[in-house]
Amino acid sequence: MPTLTINGMTVDVPQGTTILNAAKEIGVEIPHYCYHPKLSIAGNCRMCLVEVEKFPKLQTACSTVVTDGMVVRTDTEKVRKAVTGVLEFILIHHPIDCPICDQAGECGLQNYYMKFGLHKSRYALEDKVHKKKVQDIGGQIVLDAERCILCSRCVRFLTEVTGTQELHFFNRGDHSEISIFPGKPLANNYTGNLADICPVGALTTKDFRFKCRVWFLKAFDSICTGCSKGCNVDAYCKGDILYRLKPRWNDAVNQAWMCDFGRLTYKAMNEARLLTPFMRGEGGRKVAAWGSLLPDAAFRMQAAAEKGGPDRVAVIASPQSSNEELYLLRRFAVELLGTKNLAFTHRVEGDGFSDDFLIQADKNPNSRGAQLLGVPGGAAFDALVSRIKAGGIDALLVVGNVIGALSEEETAALLAKVPFVVQVGTNEGPVSKAATAVLPSASVAERGGTFTNHAGRVQRFRSGFPARGKAKTPIEILASMGNRLGAGWNFAGEASVFTAIAETEAPFAGMSYDSIGMFGQEIGK
Ligand code: SF4
Ligand code: SF4
Ligand code: FES
Repeated sequence: MPTLTINGMTVDVPQGTTILNAAKEIGVEIPHYCYHPKLSIAGNCRMCLVEVEKFPKLQTACSTVVTDGMVVRTDTEKVRKAVTGVLEFILIHHPIDCPICDQAGECGLQNYYMKFGLHKSRYALEDKVHKKKVQDIGGQIVLDAERCILCSRCVRFLTEVTGTQELHFFNRGDHSEISIFPGKPLANNYTGNLADICPVGALTTKDFRFKCRVWFLKAFDSICTGCSKGCNVDAYCKGDILYRLKPRWNDAVNQAWMCDFGRLTYKAMNEARLLTPFMRGEGGRKVAAWGSLLPDAAFRMQAAAEKGGPDRVAVIASPQSSNEELYLLRRFAVELLGTKNLAFTHRVEGDGFSDDFLIQADKNPNSRGAQLLGVPGGAAFDALVSRIKAGGIDALLVVGNVIGALSEEETAALLAKVPFVVQVGTNEGPVSKAATAVLPSASVAERGGTFTNHAGRVQRFRSGFPARGKAKTPIEILASMGNRLGAGWNFAGEASVFTAIAETEAPFAGMSYDSIGMFGQEIGK
C-alpha cells in the first residue's frame, strides 16, 4: 500500500489509486471535467493539474497513479495559475448562456469559475466561434454544441456502457464539435444518462428542459418502479410535484445509470391521480368521506365472507406495492376475511422488453417481494380471474390501477361480475372506472417502504412530501380497515410494519431498516 503526502497530509491508498482519488480520501478537492469514476480515463481537459515533487511539469491527477513516497501539492501558486489558465481556455468560446441554460445551478463551469477562475475574459465577445444550438439528436437528448467543452464523457459512455457509439467529435481546433452522424440519432435505451454525465449544459433532457430551476428542487431517495431491477434513484420535487428522476449510485444494482423508460415513470405520480375517496351508486360516482367509506368497505367485505363463505371474497394484490403493504394485505385477506383467494396481478414474463444490462421483462418493482411474503402470482392469479369470470366472487378488494393486461372494456366486464368491488389505487384507470368504492392511495413519492428486486435485494424508498389531495398511504388504509374488523394492529407507519415482517417472515428474518441502509440488503445475507 503506497503512502504519499498531499498538501502535507499523509495518506495510505491501495496500489493503483490515482492522485485524484487519493486526494478525495482526505477531502482535498481537485477540479476535473473529463474524469468520471465509471468511465475510462481520458486525461483531456487538464483541469486536474497538480504539482508532484521531482516531476519537472505539472501532472494530471486523474491519470497519474500514486507511488510510495510521492509528494503532491494542489495548493501552490503554480497549480492555481495553471488551473485558472485552463478554465479561461475552456471558456474562451463558451456562450454567455447561463441565464437561459438549464444546467445553471449544477454546472461544472459555473462552479469551478467561482472557485478557481474569477478571471476577466480577455477574449472579445464577437470573436467567439458559434456552433449549432438546440439540436434534437434523438432519445431524450437536446444538444447545444456551443456549450460543449469536448471532455468526451458522452463519447466514452456510448462506447463503454451502451456500445452504440452515436456521438463523435468532428472538425479540428476551435471548430471541433460534438455531434451525431447525419441521419443517425441516438439509438439506445439509456440516453438520459448523457445529460447526467455532461458536466456542462451541452446535453440536456427534452423532458426536464425549462421546467424548473434546479435550486427550487428538493431531492429524496427513491427506487424506480419501472421494472424489477429496482434502480436506485434520486427523485426531485417542488412542493408536491415531481420534476425528474436521476440515477442514485449503487454498484450492486444500477452503478450510476438508469434506463429512459424508468426515467419517465415519475409522470404517473403527477397526472390523473385519484385524490378523493368516492363511492359509485345509482346516481353515479359520489365523493365520500374516509370516515364512512373505510368501515363501510371493511364491513361489506366481511359481510360477504360471512354470508357466502370466505371463498366468495377475494383480494387482488399489486406487485407495485411495497413489502410492508403486501404483508398487511395478506394478513387482511387470510386472517380477517379468512379467504385463500389472494393473488398478485399477473406477472407476465417477457411482457416487456429486457436487455442484458438493467432492463427487466417484469415491469414491476416487487413481484419477488410478493412471492416471498406468501402472495402468489402466475397460475394463482389466472385461477382467481377465472373464478371472478364465473361469478364466484361477491366482494373483491383490488390494489392497483389495472388488472393484469386487461383493457378497460375487459376490466369493466370482469368487475361487473362482482357485486362489490373496492379499489386502493393511485391513478384513474380501468379499475377506478368500474369499482364500487375507490380509496385513493399515496404514490411511491408520498410514502415509504421497501421493494425486493428481481435478485432478492431489499431496498428502501422514502417519502418526499405528504400524500396529495385526500389520499392516504395503503398502510393507513389497510390498518384502518383491519382494525374495524378487530385486528388490533398498532402499526405506526412502514418502519413498524417492517419490524413485524422481520420477526415473522422467514426470508426477512433479522433484517431492519438500519441493516438495509442506503444501498439495500440481499435476502439471506
Ligand atoms: S457534450 Fe458534454 S459530455 Fe459530451 S464532450 Fe461535450 S461537454 Fe463532454
Ligand atoms: S432498468 Fe428498470 S428499474 Fe432501472 S430505470 Fe429502467 S425501468 Fe427503472
Ligand atoms: S480530469 Fe484530469 S485531465 Fe480531465
